[in-house]
Amino acid sequence: MGMTKKTWLWLFWLLGSVALGLYLLAALLGKGDEAVLMPGPLSDGHHQLVEACDACHVDRFGDGEVLQQACVDCHGEVRRKPLDSHPAAKFKDPRNADRLEKINALACVTCHTEHRPEITHKNGLTQPRDICFHCHADVAEERPSHQGMAFDTCANSGCHNYHDNRALYTNFLIKHLDEPEVLAPATLPPREFATVLAELADYPRDRFPVQPLTRDAMDAPADHRGDEKLQRDWLETAHARAGVNCSACHLVPVAEDQAPQWQDHPGMAGCSQCHDLEVARFQQGKHGMRLKSGLPALQPQQARLPMRPDAGHASLTCNSCHGAHRYDVASAAVESCLACHADEHSLAYKDSPHYALWQQEQADELPPGSGVSCASCHMPRIDFDVSEWMSRTMVEHNQSAVQSPNSKMIRPACNHCHGLGFSLDALADTALIERNFAGKPTQHVESMALAKADKERRDKERGGDDAGMFGF
Ligand code: HEC
Ligand code: HEC
Ligand code: HEC
Ligand code: HEC
Ligand code: HEC
Ligand code: HEC
Ligand code: HEC
Ligand code: HEC
Ligand code: HEC
Ligand code: HEC
Repeated sequence: MGMTKKTWLWLFWLLGSVALGLYLLAALLGKGDEAVLMPGPLSDGHHQLVEACDACHVDRFGDGEVLQQACVDCHGEVRRKPLDSHPAAKFKDPRNADRLEKINALACVTCHTEHRPEITHKNGLTQPRDICFHCHADVAEERPSHQGMAFDTCANSGCHNYHDNRALYTNFLIKHLDEPEVLAPATLPPREFATVLAELADYPRDRFPVQPLTRDAMDAPADHRGDEKLQRDWLETAHARAGVNCSACHLVPVAEDQAPQWQDHPGMAGCSQCHDLEVARFQQGKHGMRLKSGLPALQPQQARLPMRPDAGHASLTCNSCHGAHRYDVASAAVESCLACHADEHSLAYKDSPHYALWQQEQADELPPGSGVSCASCHMPRIDFDVSEWMSRTMVEHNQSAVQSPNSKMIRPACNHCHGLGFSLDALADTALIERNFAGKPTQHVESMALAKADKERRDKERGGDDAGMFGF
């Protein structure tokens, strides 16, 4: 029985489809070439995930609901009150259901889709900037001060953010009215890991009792003891003083089901026994996000921001800033950053008054905490709830957490040293940011004045009410 032309065509089509399917499957499962399947490049926030399509497409191109869960898994922690002014919970409230008919604020992708550079604005917004109009069309009636303002100005620097308004809400502004440019004293809160150590329940003090170690106590195998400098670096610094022996970092399991083995170049697994918060936060920001998705560490050559050409292949790990074995925190805060970053703002830092303060602090000419390093702003010392009953000051190792919108820097950084009005003005001045804050702000944000007028109006109304009540 011979085959008809139609059958041939049919077979041909079938084979073709199978081949195409296999190609697509291989591209999806294999690493490296997935990018060709993207409808367009990823946004600045996510470009590092180009080898991990499944970070968002959980179900290998599942539907929107699956994507939503991926967004929430990585970002959910901060999308709640009081960190977020428009959390999902607000729109699940039946009283706000009518607003969802205009725009579905429950789905992240409504306002942040991917692969569409032509409609992607700063901070990954893929809606027009006057999006606030949908739900706040009558704001001018409720707030006479907002009469005549255009909706694309709501989210200008120093006014409002969609998500994080912690440094911008009216009562906060009122609380900080009329503050001077520079507060006294102008210092950061001290770091306190060493002082709260005794209260940290998970600290492995049974294996590494907190007591100074001598050279004789060194527990590394004889052929892995390094040179004189290595041993001196360890002996003279925080770890040996606090009982952290060689094995604490070096004797770690290679795989989950294996017994610990000495490694000459250990990764973060050792650190996380004692610094789990730093490790976890590091992986939430742009420096560590690849590790969280199971990808190799970020290299400066993959960056979209300008980097020093000689930094190209350095992998971003804890060691990038804290070289073993001194674990220095001062060089970590400035010099390490400048070994990679080479944009105008970073390069301008050393000409700023902030750097002069930093040098004076390092020379003991100013009290601890008076200097302003890159880390003072980008990795601020924050109060973090370690557990339900304990909060401690820690260094924010997610350097993206206070990055954008930049008003997030005000409370954990600027406000230790500057008044709110001055901080708002400085952060609204993009040219000043580019010069790394060498000079006074040339922008002026109206928020403080509006809040003041609002307060005076309310005081007067209240005064009027009182008079009405008692003035008969
Ligand atoms: C940061 C999250 C994220 C990553 C990573 C990501 N995508 Fe997407 N992708 C999205 C979003 C969001 C959409 C739009 C979905 C929507 O609008 O419902 C999308 C849409 C798509 C679409 C169009 C699907 C459709 O329904 O039209 C394709 C194809 C796609 N992505 C491929 C890829 C590939 C291939 C990779 C990896 C190289 C990748 N994506 C990585 C978030 C991501
Ligand atoms: C694997 C974790 C991960 C997933 C999944 C993920 N993100 Fe992100 N996203 C990040 C990190 C890390 C950053 C960069 C740091 C930052 O801005 O917080 C970021 C940045 C962003 C930004 C700011 C972009 C910019 O240009 O500054 C937006 C908006 C955003 N993500 C929304 C989403 C949405 C919507 C989804 C779901 C489609 C999603 N993310 C999925 C980790 C993730
Ligand atoms: C999908 C609807 C929706 C959109 C879009 C929207 N909002 Fe809102 N917003 C609300 C609701 C609901 C509230 C709660 C107060 C109310 O009922 O007016 C609110 C409250 C606020 C508040 C008061 C904050 C607080 O903590 O109580 C500010 C400020 C605000 N929005 C600013 C904005 C800005 C700026 C935009 C645009 C970038 C925007 N909103 C877009 C629905 C929306
Ligand atoms: C109705 C629109 C809207 C929805 C829905 C929305 N966002 Fe946003 N988002 C914005 C706007 C506007 C900005 C720009 C900066 C700002 O005002 O905070 C932004 C900025 C961001 C940023 C960068 C700045 C920051 O605050 O970290 C991230 C990350 C982000 N959104 C994540 C999410 C995630 C995750 C979801 C879903 C849980 C989501 N957004 C839902 C409007 C929205
Ligand atoms: C706080 C963690 C930590 C402690 C404690 C520590 N190390 Fe290390 N050590 C590291 C890390 C991380 C590296 C890898 C550095 C790299 O890859 O560049 C390393 C590298 C080494 C190397 C190989 C690097 C080289 O120069 O050849 C030797 C040998 C070594 N350590 C010995 C020791 C000895 C001996 C001690 C105790 C006196 C010790 N370490 C204590 C974290 C530690
Ligand atoms: C067995 C617990 C333990 C391990 C493992 C450990 N550390 Fe530490 N680390 C400590 C203690 C305790 C201190 C505080 C010492 C002090 O200031 O008295 C400390 C302090 C530090 C400091 C601050 C130093 C200073 O001068 O203030 C840095 C940075 C640091 N560790 C980084 C790391 C890194 C990176 C790793 C992994 C390579 C690591 N540590 C592994 C216990 C540990
Ligand atoms: C080993 C190189 C390296 C070191 C060291 C380093 N960075 Fe980065 N940094 C990067 C790379 C690469 C990126 C990602 C840029 C991109 O995605 O385009 C980045 C991103 C950033 C961002 C942007 C965050 C965002 O969400 O947009 C900031 C801010 C930053 N680094 C500050 C610092 C500071 C402050 C230090 C020192 C305390 C530092 N970096 C040390 C390589 C480095
Ligand atoms: C981008 C640079 C950078 C990277 C990467 C980095 N750190 Fe740090 N780390 C710093 C700076 C800067 C300080 C000190 C900040 C200060 O004094 O306010 C610090 C402080 C610390 C401290 C002392 C905290 C305290 O509260 O006293 C520990 C512990 C620490 N880092 C651990 C780690 C671990 C573990 C990793 C890897 C997951 C890591 N660091 C990665 C820059 C970095
Ligand atoms: C006084 C606070 C302050 C100091 C000090 C500071 N920065 Fe910044 N940095 C900012 C602000 C504010 C922005 C802008 C954030 C925004 O609006 O997106 C920024 C932006 C950045 C960016 C992102 C640039 C871009 O084009 O997106 C990098 C990278 C960065 N800083 C690194 C550094 C490094 C490295 C140092 C030290 C050499 C440093 N910064 C010192 C406040 C500071
Ligand atoms: C640890 C304290 C401290 C922190 C944190 C700090 N500053 Fe400053 N800053 C100062 C002091 C003190 C001066 C005055 C220096 C002088 O006059 O020599 C100053 C000066 C300035 C100037 C004026 C520079 C000039 O040339 O006159 C600007 C602008 C500025 N800071 C902005 C900021 C912003 C924005 C932030 C937060 C992102 C910030 N600073 C964080 C202490 C700090």
